[in-house]
Order: sequence, then C-alpha cells, then structure tokens
Amino acid sequence: MPQHIGFIMDGNGRWAKKRAMPRNFGHKQGASVFKKTINWCREFGVRAATFYAFSTENWKRPEDEVKGIMNLLRQYIKDIRAMAKENVRFVFIGDLSAFEDDIRVELLDIMDTSKENNEFIAGVALNYGGRAEIANCARKLAEKCVSGELEPEDITEELIENVLYTREFPPLDLVIRPSGEQRLSNFLIWQAAYAEFVFMDVLWPDFKKKDLEHAIKEFAGRSRRFGGV
Ligand code: FPP
Repeated sequence: MPQHIGFIMDGNGRWAKKRAMPRNFGHKQGASVFKKTINWCREFGVRAATFYAFSTENWKRPEDEVKGIMNLLRQYIKDIRAMAKENVRFVFIGDLSAFEDDIRVELLDIMDTSKENNEFIAGVALNYGGRAEIANCARKLAEKCVSGELEPEDITEELIENVLYTREFPPLDLVIRPSGEQRLSNFLIWQAAYAEFVFMDVLWPDFKKKDLEHAIKEFAGRSRRFGGV
C-alpha cells in the first residue's frame, strides 16, 4: 500500500467542454471528486494524499476561471473543516500570501486546528510550484548561513527535506495523473524523486474508486529498487 499518493487533478476543462459547459463546471465536479478521493484513500489504508489544486502558473488563466476556482475554494472550506473533525490533518502547501484575506485566514486556521490530527494527512497544493518550493528552502537555509546558525558544508538532503512543505508527510510513493497527460508539471518535484507514476486516461471529474484501486494495484506490482539492484 502506498503511504502517500500525489494526485494531479487534470482534465476538468476537457470534461466540461465535452458537455458544452464552462470550464468552471468541470472544476466544480473535480472538487467533489477531491473530497471523495480523500475518503477512498482512508478506506484503502493510505496514510496521506496531496492534491494539486492550483499551481503558481494557474494565475495565467482567464480571470473568470481563476475567480471560479477561488469561489469553489471558499465553498469547500466548510467541507474541509468537517473532514478535519474526523481526525484528518490538512496542510495547505504553497505560497498562501497571494490569496484574498478571507481565504487565507480560514486556510491557516484549518491547518492550525487540525495539526494534531493523526489518522490521515491531506495536502492541498495551492499557489504551489515545486521549483518555488525548492527556491524557498534554499533561501531559508541561506539565511541561516548568513546568521551563522549553519555552515554551508552542513547542508544535506535531510536538512532540505526538513524545510519542505511536506516535512511531516510520509514519503511520496505514488503520483497519479489522470487525463492522459504524462508529465509532472512542477508538482512535488523533489518528493517524487523515487515515486512511481501511474498515468490514466480518465478525466479527473470521472475518476472513481475503482480507478484508485487500479492505480494502487499497479503500484503494488512494481519493483522499487531505489537505485539498488
Ligand atoms: C486541471 O484541469 C485543474 C485545475 C488547474 C484546477 C483544479 C481545481 C479543482 C479540482 C477545484 C478546486 C479544489 C479544491 C480543493 C476545492 P484543467 O483545467 O487543466 O483541465 P484541462 O486540461 O482539461 O483543460
């Protein structure tokens, strides 16, 4: 069983287009699949899942679409709070300073009030980019070197791991990308160094429990050698 799964929630736009509906209709359906997937992961005994909800590049989308996603997030805050009451810890990864105050305050509060929950960790990547995350770590460690707290030669992989957003998550074992695209798109690029990838043709709004089961079975059949033999 993978301990930590990353989900790239792709294909919402195409799903809506197939139905001659606006893209935000697809995001709405995608958000409901996000919620169901957390429950399926818990049922399968997965310990953590991180969902790519909004990348640092997604601000380039039309204003209407960005607004729609922000409003979805506002609506989902209630659901997220309800899930947090079921011993789920929520960690929002990414630069939250870019969000409007009402959203940011809620997200920070949910993170804070759920931090002792230990049944499942749900990561939600918002204004997240893997390169930005690594640059952020480099900045933090450089500041420590300047203040004399740290020597450059003492910087190790472990030290970097300890400043990543995912420092309290189990290792990322599996990345699932639906929608037929086969790339990482700047998602958890450090963490995915030894992850397995499962690419699926289903569009995210159509993603079902059986698709998750299929990806987990595929993972279980892989031989992971981590560079060994
Ligand atoms: C990618 O599909 C999806 C996104 C960029 C947004 C994902 C957002 C949600 C699922 C809803 C918000 C999340 C929460 C947690 C409430 P796409 O639009 O790139 O699809 P396409 O490739 O078919 O155009």
